[in-house]
Amino acid sequence: MADLHIQINRDKGGIAGQIASELRDSIRGGRLTPGTRLPATRDLATDLQVSRGVVVEAYEQLVAEGFLVSRVGVGTQVTPKTAPRAAPRQKTPPRPRPVPRASSAPVCGPYYGHRPTSPDLSHFPRERWLAAVRHVLTTVPSEAFDYGDPGGVPELREELAGYLRRVRAADVRPENLVIVGGVAQGLSLVLHVLSRQRPIRLAVEDPTSHRQVPLLRRAGAHLVPVPVDEEGLQVRKLSGDAVLVTPAHQYPTGVVLSPPRRAALMEWAYAGDRVILEDDYDAEFRFDRDPVGCLQGLAPDRVILSGSVSKALAPGLRLGWVAAPPDLAEAVRRARGELDLGSPVVEQYALAHFMRTGGYDRHLRRMRREYRRRRDALVRALAQELPDVRVKGIDAGLHVYLELPAGWDELESVRVAQELGLSTEPVGPMRESAGPAAVVVGFARLPAHKALDAVRGLKVRMSGQNVD
Ligand SMILES: Cc1ncc(COP(=O)(O)O)c(C=O)c1O
Repeated sequence: MADLHIQINRDKGGIAGQIASELRDSIRGGRLTPGTRLPATRDLATDLQVSRGVVVEAYEQLVAEGFLVSRVGVGTQVTPKTAPRAAPRQKTPPRPRPVPRASSAPVCGPYYGHRPTSPDLSHFPRERWLAAVRHVLTTVPSEAFDYGDPGGVPELREELAGYLRRVRAADVRPENLVIVGGVAQGLSLVLHVLSRQRPIRLAVEDPTSHRQVPLLRRAGAHLVPVPVDEEGLQVRKLSGDAVLVTPAHQYPTGVVLSPPRRAALMEWAYAGDRVILEDDYDAEFRFDRDPVGCLQGLAPDRVILSGSVSKALAPGLRLGWVAAPPDLAEAVRRARGELDLGSPVVEQYALAHFMRTGGYDRHLRRMRREYRRRRDALVRALAQELPDVRVKGIDAGLHVYLELPAGWDELESVRVAQELGLSTEPVGPMRESAGPAAVVVGFARLPAHKALDAVRGLKVRMSGQNVD
């Protein structure tokens, strides 16, 4: 799905025409290549905060002009050069293909494909995971494959509770945990439950992960942006009934919530009937000091912790958890049952086995070393080649936050960086208020020996565009 950096001027009117014009230029200029699928009209409308009809009108205009084609079941795509042919029928089962290498293709759309915060999937522990699945399939009784507890299989909740207590200083028991399809689903379910009781005004960090905004709104929350500074969320500016925070490594700035702010946040929660939603998305990776314990461990009756294996193993597993006070955990479990009856069980048993036998810890230790090497190489290359770039948020996670030198355009920098194989995103679309031009760069898929070339390439290409 294409990442569409569409800029519209709301003062000018004719929004559909502006969207059509931007798309047309992107197709003509080659940024959108033949066959590229465009986001669904509803998704693009949400991103741009316009009505869906406006996007439909823009797409229809371009279909009429022949730039786009729309097909049932496929959606809207840039007109392919040749008509797509049906895939040939396979007589024999296909042989497993070689493992694809990490691609240097530009990051794709806002919802699908790889993100700067994604891990290096070529390091997915295939053999060990296979062994875990084999173990499950040879030992688990058949009844275990029936519809299960929508809160997740007990073995996994048991393992996870131990892991979260040990590694994240969380205060959880298996009964407080609900297994979900990642942080994203965890947040959706929690907000659905909370907004059933009363309308929820949810404070969100500014800047924040723009991908989450549609799901938070869809789950019934009214969002109230609160600025982030060098110490994290500015707690004294908080308003609302609940807040969503990334205290261990703020996304996107990488700031760690300072101890005074953590204390102030707790005070805020206890001063009213308020809850804290803690997004613990990349807390496993902390390089220069010990992991900061999660907020949930300080106030398990006020904080709802969401985490997943998306950064530790692979986002495609769609396995995560919510730790909540007993009543809320029960409501989330019931909501999950009503929604889709729960997560696939084989993967849950496999993860439980993987954790119990030490595979998860071992994999994390190995990847932490490797990511640290990659981060160091990127940070060194930036310091050497681009000293005017301000590098922030390097203590943890899988991305760094770069404030760009004067004269560098965010979107252009991202485009160039992507062409050089860097996994990059602009910060502008994540901000509600104005801020310095900045980008997020992921280093998980950038081997240490390639960092210097990539950064040099960026320097040459960007300075070439800024010759006075
Ligand atoms: C800040 C942040 N929170 C949550 C998520 C979603 O994670 P999950 O795959 O667990 O749904 C991401 C994914 O990139 C993220 O960057």
